[in-house]
Amino acid sequence: MSEASASGTIAFERSHDIVIDAPAAVVFDYVTNPQSWPEWIAVSHRVESADRPLGRGETFSEQWFSRQEVRLDWIVLEADWPQRWVAETHADFLGPIVVRYDFEPLPGGGSRFRRTVRNPARPKAPTPAMVDRIDAEAETALGNIKARVEQGYATRTAARCDAIGAAMADIHGLVGGDAPDRSVLSKVRDRLVALAMRADLFPRGDLPPPFPDEGKRSILYRLAEDDDHGFALYANASLGGYGTPAHNHTTWAVIAGVHGNELNRFYDRSADGGVAQRGELEVVAGRGVAFMPDDLHSIHIDAPLLNFHLYGLGLEQLHRREYYDPDSRQWSVFPAHSDIRDARAGRA
Ligand SMILES: [Fe+2]
Repeated sequence: MSEASASGTIAFERSHDIVIDAPAAVVFDYVTNPQSWPEWIAVSHRVESADRPLGRGETFSEQWFSRQEVRLDWIVLEADWPQRWVAETHADFLGPIVVRYDFEPLPGGGSRFRRTVRNPARPKAPTPAMVDRIDAEAETALGNIKARVEQGYATRTAARCDAIGAAMADIHGLVGGDAPDRSVLSKVRDRLVALAMRADLFPRGDLPPPFPDEGKRSILYRLAEDDDHGFALYANASLGGYGTPAHNHTTWAVIAGVHGNELNRFYDRSADGGVAQRGELEVVAGRGVAFMPDDLHSIHIDAPLLNFHLYGLGLEQLHRREYYDPDSRQWSVFPAHSDIRDARAGRA
């Protein structure tokens, strides 16, 4: 916990962790917004900072009260969403103070949050009573974080499910029992765009992209699907660096942007059996695209993104989607999608 150095100071470190029933990214976005600190740690009285998670190199100040009121000027040293965040300040009576937050996803959708406080050059070691007090304050603080994050996440999840349910009911009403034509699909697109504009219900952290060590670029979350697998709505959460060749869907499809930018290119089948591009659209917040079953498109995602993909039939049921490989000049069949995560209420 503490060790003496040649300079006569003491290095001290104390770490505490807690399991929280919310994705790591949700916890990350809460605790790395310094405006949250006075909500969960008693000694933090007031913070002057932007009201959002802070990135590397950003600074903020904190009015801190221990034995006396102290102003601490902080700088963020690391911000590796949603895994690690480190900030440093300096106090006359303690020397440097470094806080490190680590976030670990757990099976079932929850996460473990670890908060480590390090004083690399304390004038002297804390007494056992001081360490007990540090532990007690940390236990209270982490309990406060857990309560606030879990309550906010549960409330938002319920509101999100209600909004998705209302949108899907409207879309069922628009499509009815027949295969939709382009006119109907444009109305479906507009309704999906309206849902996507509720960005407050779809923060990136609630439906996070893969952790970098998961070995994949994107995750599909199932948001809605009928019992017969019709009207399947997914959220695509991507790290970026992902794309597809030109392909069809064999069912109707609609895409709407929530966060980020998905470039869509549109194609016709060309006379030589390949494809010829006939346009493109950047799908961002407020925009969508709709496709008839035989329409061709490719997608190109450079940076992190969250968007909606709605299909007339679920992706696990689409066994005949064709894509065109321009190198081999061959059409091939996409394997049906698997590894879709359920994000419907009560099924995660
Ligand atoms: Fe597609």
